Amino acid sequence: MRVVCLISGDGSNLQALIDWQIKGLLGDAEIVGVVSNKAQAFGLERAKRANIATTVLSHERYPDRCQFDRALISVIDNYEADLIVLAGFMRILTAQFVNHYANRLVNVHPSLLPKYKGLNTHRRAIEAGDSASGATVHWVTEELDSGGIIRQAEVPIYAHDSEESLRQRVLEAEHSLYPAVIRDLSLGVVAC
Ligand code: GAR
Repeated sequence: MRVVCLISGDGSNLQALIDWQIKGLLGDAEIVGVVSNKAQAFGLERAKRANIATTVLSHERYPDRCQFDRALISVIDNYEADLIVLAGFMRILTAQFVNHYANRLVNVHPSLLPKYKGLNTHRRAIEAGDSASGATVHWVTEELDSGGIIRQAEVPIYAHDSEESLRQRVLEAEHSLYPAVIRDLSLGVVAC
């Protein structure tokens, strides 16, 4: 299963996937390319260190979302991707893009969906007085953060938590959740 990861920033989830791949734990999945919409994304360095091909496609160079997404499709299809893994890719995708990759596009979101779609998930969970939060891996559909849930990981919220301490705990949970899901998808354990 040829996997292309889309990133915008630090790429710690990408690193977790790379680590599992290096250890032979990623099943039949192989990360064949990493695409970033930001040239400064540290995740690009992580990919290069692992000898994985990278592409930078800056959204600022395109007049609108549709044209950027069309260019993105062309880049991804050049990698002959079977599965597209959003790993901190901070762009809203057009229906055209999502439909092109129907049942081949997954995302990790830092909340227990359907709670807290969108941004500032940790702050909202703390402000609501929740006792738990977590991460969700889900299929991507046209509606933001609303596609079918594949698997979730739950973490506690403590009384002394800040947005940052909760962010770290959720991120750590993502680092084992996401690679395990990609492995299982590649092995057919999870239906596409
Ligand atoms: C992760 O926490 C991921 O869940 C979140 O961005 C972070 C990326 O971290 N994604 C979203 O919020 C998408 N809506 P990383 O770059 O270190 O993997």
